Amino acid sequence: MTTEKQLQQSGGVTERMPWKNEMSMEFDAVSVNESFARVAVAAFVAHLNPTLEEVADIKTAVSEAVTNAIIHGYDNVYGYGKHGNSQPAYLIIHPGKVQLRCSLERDVLRIEVEDHGRGMENVERAMEPLYTTKPEYDRSGMGFAFMEAFMDELEVHSMPGQGTVVRMTKKLGTYPLIEE
Ligand SMILES: Nc1ncnc2c1ncn2[C@@H]1O[C@H](COP(=O)(O)OP(=O)(O)O)[C@@H](O)[C@H]1O
Ligand SMILES: [Mg+2]
Repeated sequence: MTTEKQLQQSGGVTERMPWKNEMSMEFDAVSVNESFARVAVAAFVAHLNPTLEEVADIKTAVSEAVTNAIIHGYDNVYGYGKHGNSQPAYLIIHPGKVQLRCSLERDVLRIEVEDHGRGMENVERAMEPLYTTKPEYDRSGMGFAFMEAFMDELEVHSMPGQGTVVRMTKKLGTYPLIEE
C-alpha cells in the first residue's frame, strides 16, 4: 500500500507502478491526416531514443493502417490517385473519424487504429499479400504484409458494417536507456 505521504513525496507516482504511458487521439478520415498520425506516434516514442530503423518501421505500419481506415473503411479516396477531382485533398471534409491509441509499457509500444467504416467480410483473405479491393487506386495489397513485417505482432478485428480495429505491438530495443 502506498500512503498519502509517500504519494506526495513522489509527486503522485507510486514507486512500484510499472513504467507506463498512454495517448489517444481522433481525427477526420482524410488523406492529409496519414502523415499527421505517423509523426504523432514517432513523437510519442521519441524520448526512448529509438533507432532510425525502428522509427521508420513504426511510421510505415501506422501509415498503412491509417490509409486503410481512410480509403477502405470510409471509401474516401481523395488524395490517393485517380479520384477524378482536381480539388486538393486538404479541402476535403469527411464525416468519418479514425481513432489512434498508443501505449508504452517500458519499451513495448502498442498501437491501435480503429475506424467505424464498412468493415471486412473475410479478414484472413484481406491480409493475404497482394490482395486488394482497390487496384484502380494503385493499391499493392501489401499493407497488412508491411504491418506484419515491421511490427512484432499484428491483430485485426473487423465486422462488416461496423468497422475495423488493427492492433500492433513492437518492442523497442531501448530498455536500458529508461531510467529506473
Ligand atoms: N480498415 C479497413 N476497412 C475495410 N476494409 C479494409 C480495411 N483495411 C483493409 N481492408 C481490406 O483489406 C484489403 C487489403 O489491405 P492492404 O493489405 O492494406 O492492401 P491495399 O490497401 O493495398 O488494398 C484492402 O484492399 C481492403 O479490401
Ligand atoms: Mg492498404
